[in-house]
Amino acid sequence: MEVDGRRVSVIGLGCWQFGTRGWGYGTVFGEREAHAIVERALELGVTLFDTAELYGRGASERILGKALGDRVDSVFLATKFLPLLPTPRRLVAHCEASLRRLGAERVALYQLHLPNPLVPLGRQMEGMRRVLDRGLAAHAGVSNYSRHRWLAADRALGRPVLANQVRYNLLQRGAERDLVPFAAREGRLVVAYSPLAQGLLGGRYGPDTLPVDLRRRNPLFTPANLARAEVLLDTLRRVASGHGATPGQVALAYLCAQPPVVVIPGARSVAQIEESAAAADLRLSPDELGRLRAAAAAFVPDRRRALAQRVTRMAQRR
Ligand SMILES: NC(=O)c1ccc[n+]([C@@H]2O[C@H](COP(=O)([O-])OP(=O)(O)OC[C@H]3O[C@@H](n4cnc5c(N)ncnc54)[C@H](OP(=O)(O)O)[C@@H]3O)[C@@H](O)[C@H]2O)c1
Repeated sequence: MEVDGRRVSVIGLGCWQFGTRGWGYGTVFGEREAHAIVERALELGVTLFDTAELYGRGASERILGKALGDRVDSVFLATKFLPLLPTPRRLVAHCEASLRRLGAERVALYQLHLPNPLVPLGRQMEGMRRVLDRGLAAHAGVSNYSRHRWLAADRALGRPVLANQVRYNLLQRGAERDLVPFAAREGRLVVAYSPLAQGLLGGRYGPDTLPVDLRRRNPLFTPANLARAEVLLDTLRRVASGHGATPGQVALAYLCAQPPVVVIPGARSVAQIEESAAAADLRLSPDELGRLRAAAAAFVPDRRRALAQRVTRMAQRR
């Protein structure tokens, strides 16, 4: 895929894991592994790198920038602004701070990390316009936006908002309803985050092998949901075995077969980025895509625990 004559790899690298203790940074892996992951990603032709000021409170940007070194301006670099107080001045100042941490002149994509419905979009996009006009970023992006809000952001910016980064994986396919068709029609990008459902689709976890990190808060990782995901995992394993591939690679290849979707799997080891990057060459047949879609549609999450957690939180707020 090309944007402004620059290649954007369909498989990118998500860098939330870098500098984030909840992902085991500093205990399970550290800066040495992070640098090796970035180095290997570059060798394998990955050009899309996604980070955010939020990740490790700037640590992810620092680690990524250091690992990229003087290659920082030649990749398709994407970072995000946390729009808690999205005044135009703060947007520009935060973008400049991100660039300093990254050691970059500009980023390819500057994204609003999530919607802030309390501040008019016109004001938020005024800040984004200043970022673009000052050459701090080549393109504007949003994240966790509905199609309706994406269109409103376009109008407020007065030019196309190139990308919307949303949660999209075989267990959470809401983006297929309207975001992917919209992006395909309008020449935009859907950047799929959590494309492996935070590792669940790799098939390593089950009701008896739960991860002991921030995923304990992810309602997909309850024993009930891991058990319910087995039907899909089984289909992933079967499709994978026909290609000499892994379930995780098939999960990524499914998303890459829905253009203009690009994926940004996170990695905690070199082996993981190697595995993910190789999924770019995996072509699934229409029959395989259909089988995966059917198995995914059969997954009905057990929402009881998520609901119970929400009720507890609401009660605590009173
Ligand atoms: N915009 C947003 O609001 C938002 C939200 C979340 C994430 N993101 C971005 O999206 C990126 C990716 O999302 P994510 O980290 O939530 O989830 P993900 O990419 O779906 O899952 C990452 C986890 O999957 C496992 N894994 C990695 N490669 C694998 C492979 N080839 N096969 C099987 N398992 C593999 C690893 O966990 P194990 O080591 O345990 O196997 C890894 O930590 C983040 O790094 C971040 O840049 C954005």
